[in-house]
Amino acid sequence: MRDLFGAELRWFQHIEETAHRVFRRHGYGEIRTPILEELDVFKRSVGESSDIVNKEMYQFTDKGGREVVMRPENTAGVVRAAIQHKLLASNDPALFYYIGPQFRYERMQSGRYRQFWQIGAESFGVATPESEAESLLMLHSFLTDLGLKSLVFSINSVGTPESRPAFHAAFRAFFADRSEQFCEDCHRRLQSNPLRVLDCKNENCQKALTGHPVLTDHLDEASARHHARLKVLLTELALPFEENPRLVRGLDYYTRTAFEVLSSDLGAQSALLGGGRYDGLIKQMGGPEVPGFGWAIGLDRLAMVLQQVQGEAPQQAPAMLIPLGERAATEALKLARRLWDAGAALQLETRGGALKKAMASANRNGIQTVLILGDGELDGGTITVKHMATGEQESWPLGEVAARLAAIRLGLRDLPS
Ligand code: HAM
Repeated sequence: MRDLFGAELRWFQHIEETAHRVFRRHGYGEIRTPILEELDVFKRSVGESSDIVNKEMYQFTDKGGREVVMRPENTAGVVRAAIQHKLLASNDPALFYYIGPQFRYERMQSGRYRQFWQIGAESFGVATPESEAESLLMLHSFLTDLGLKSLVFSINSVGTPESRPAFHAAFRAFFADRSEQFCEDCHRRLQSNPLRVLDCKNENCQKALTGHPVLTDHLDEASARHHARLKVLLTELALPFEENPRLVRGLDYYTRTAFEVLSSDLGAQSALLGGGRYDGLIKQMGGPEVPGFGWAIGLDRLAMVLQQVQGEAPQQAPAMLIPLGERAATEALKLARRLWDAGAALQLETRGGALKKAMASANRNGIQTVLILGDGELDGGTITVKHMATGEQESWPLGEVAARLAAIRLGLRDLPS
């Protein structure tokens, strides 16, 4: 678990602001659920055969004797809340998004934390491939608005609980023929959830899987039609995808569509995001028979990728106003107030003292534009402006500072302020 501040947190804020803007545009409403949920919420959803429930939950007994968990993901909590508050009663589609911390006791590695953040979206009440295309379009415009390019959705269909036994039988027969090549964990997985074997990170197991039976060859007719239609829609919308027959996801609730986006910037096997359909989950958790589809993206990982691809985070206050002397200090407070009220982002130097010291601070803090106000400037109704990147200096009329700062800001960065 770590502290967030500075450039990384500025990326977080920029990502969050983009998420609010894009998701609202699609008609999704925000939902905030508690960090602590009852243990049962995750046992009944994420599943007892998953690593998350088995090994990774921060789980304890509270002072009232309840078994509680610090949420390892948010889909189960959103489903619990939607049932509890009867948000699904009308049979209308219900669209939610969330931004918040999640907790998993995982092995530390790059981009993997024990407290991490997710941004996710869940769409309840629609079972069509069109609803999946809508959600993926929203995800795609969110990521492209942030400046990510060359995204490829990796997709699969994991069928339904009814169609899965046919696959399980074929897979068990395949496994039996080469069982000595699989690791101990896979032997256990074959009993609890054979799909998990496809997901094993062990290289030998991945090799032993060559030529394995493929889930999409064992789908029921409706699931096969669903999968084919989704592929048509993704093609029509020019959303790049590839089929991955080993993609099964680490959570038990998925039915039919499962998908991920991997990022090469994150190192091997790290998913930037993942999600899928979960048509049985709401009923399984005690709610009405309502289908669902959604995904969640790791905010920590997304910020890391953006930092690698785009470098500097959007600067919080890219300008600094430095007054020289007491008279200028008074006028600088008044000027800064006008600029802030006009929406300008700037820091005010209030220490007094030498210009050199203030300029050194501006340099260290990545300030792009320094405004210097002394007695000479005040007498002439101007301000001296230094552009730090080029070292260029010029003089602006005092009345035009707000407009000129705004123009620089828009010109320098293609990011919404
Ligand atoms: P998940 O694949 O477990 O799915 O997590 C989604 C994303 O959260 C991952 O792709 C990754 O970016 C991020 N993530 C997971 N664990 C960590 C970690 N330890 N450190 C940093 N980032 C991490 C779910 O949680 C599902 N609830 C997604 C979903 C929503 N399915 C349907 N609706």
